[in-house]
Amino acid sequence: MICSVKPFGTATNGSEIFLRQKSRAPIQRSSLLPSLPVQKAQRSVISVQKALHVSMIGNFGSLNGRKSLIKCEAYEADRSKPIESNIELPKPAAPSEAAKKVKIGVYFAMWWALNVVFNIYNKKVLNAYPFPWLTSTLSLACGSLIMLISWATRIAEAPKTDFEFWKALFPVAVAHTIGHVAATVSMSKVAVSFTHIIKSGEPAFSVLVSRFILGESFPVPVYLSLIPIIGGCSLAALTELNFNMIGFMGAMISNLAFVFRNIFSKKGMKGKSVSGMNYYACLSIMSLLILTPFAIAVEGPQMWAAGWEKAISQIGPQLIWWVAAQSVFYHLYNQVSYMSLDEISPLTFSIGNTMKRISVIVSSIIIFHTPVQPINALGAAIAILGTFLYSQVFIVLFMIYDCLS
Ligand code: 3PG
Repeated sequence: MICSVKPFGTATNGSEIFLRQKSRAPIQRSSLLPSLPVQKAQRSVISVQKALHVSMIGNFGSLNGRKSLIKCEAYEADRSKPIESNIELPKPAAPSEAAKKVKIGVYFAMWWALNVVFNIYNKKVLNAYPFPWLTSTLSLACGSLIMLISWATRIAEAPKTDFEFWKALFPVAVAHTIGHVAATVSMSKVAVSFTHIIKSGEPAFSVLVSRFILGESFPVPVYLSLIPIIGGCSLAALTELNFNMIGFMGAMISNLAFVFRNIFSKKGMKGKSVSGMNYYACLSIMSLLILTPFAIAVEGPQMWAAGWEKAISQIGPQLIWWVAAQSVFYHLYNQVSYMSLDEISPLTFSIGNTMKRISVIVSSIIIFHTPVQPINALGAAIAILGTFLYSQVFIVLFMIYDCLS
């Protein structure tokens, strides 16, 4: 199987793998699915009347690669040996494959670490200086500036774009802006851990939007896998000691916006070839242009100036470093996540994103001494495990689909 991953749809979920269109029997890929062209194995001559048992998945890590293969040994239910003659066998691992795995490992480690640091500084800033619209704008401005300087000095090669590219990027940027500002508003009102627990429910939004807005339906196991996600998030919300409705709704709106960002990415960017890093840079620039007037309208320079004086008098000059750190780390973690999406499949990305949330939740609880009741922690654990289970359901369905095609 070959997965080609385009550098968009950063928060892609497993739901983007495949599904059944209403009234069509064969399994189809979702309209949410980023480009995942599958190199078909030679058509199997085995009978599809008999149940297939997927016995082994070799080279699991190859889900990560564009050009690597999954060895999928399938047995007809009444045979005892795999039907090897019809299944594409993996090529022996080239040395570059190992290097690629190391590269992906480094990307993941950087992504999670940068994200943890961003979340810590973001919350420190928001505690002292509660202007989420401004801090959201500053993080986009910082990223835009870094990339414009990188292009001007040729540290990074500027992307070749045209009007069509920016036109297609616009709805993605609108959704990215809403998702970003909503998450920041959420974090200004509730604990970082709570925002991320609710944000772990993003797959449920993905499936529900696909079902009720796009009219697509999924195999039953996918719906069942949403039960722990929704149940866990609900339990965590109901038992959250410092619950705040704006904080809760901000995280929910962010989930919804990021699902639409993925849909628009998929629909608008088909066939475009801009690297992950440059794609995210363009997204930052456009989001900055969209967000700035709204930030001025909602908060505005007068409130910012008065709040800044108060915050500086309480925190001191180090507040400037906190603001700089949250802005720089916001850009860096997103840039690395887009760069890793260049290398891995959306499913691997989705699993990585879930793991990232665990590290953010745990580290923020430790650093901010967030009070957590056991029942609240149980809700969070169920939600996170549910997200993981959801990814696994897609992996299994994806493999079955691949074996049958
Ligand atoms: C943001 O500010 O954009 C959100 O914190 C993003 O959250 P995520 O990248 O963890 O989904």
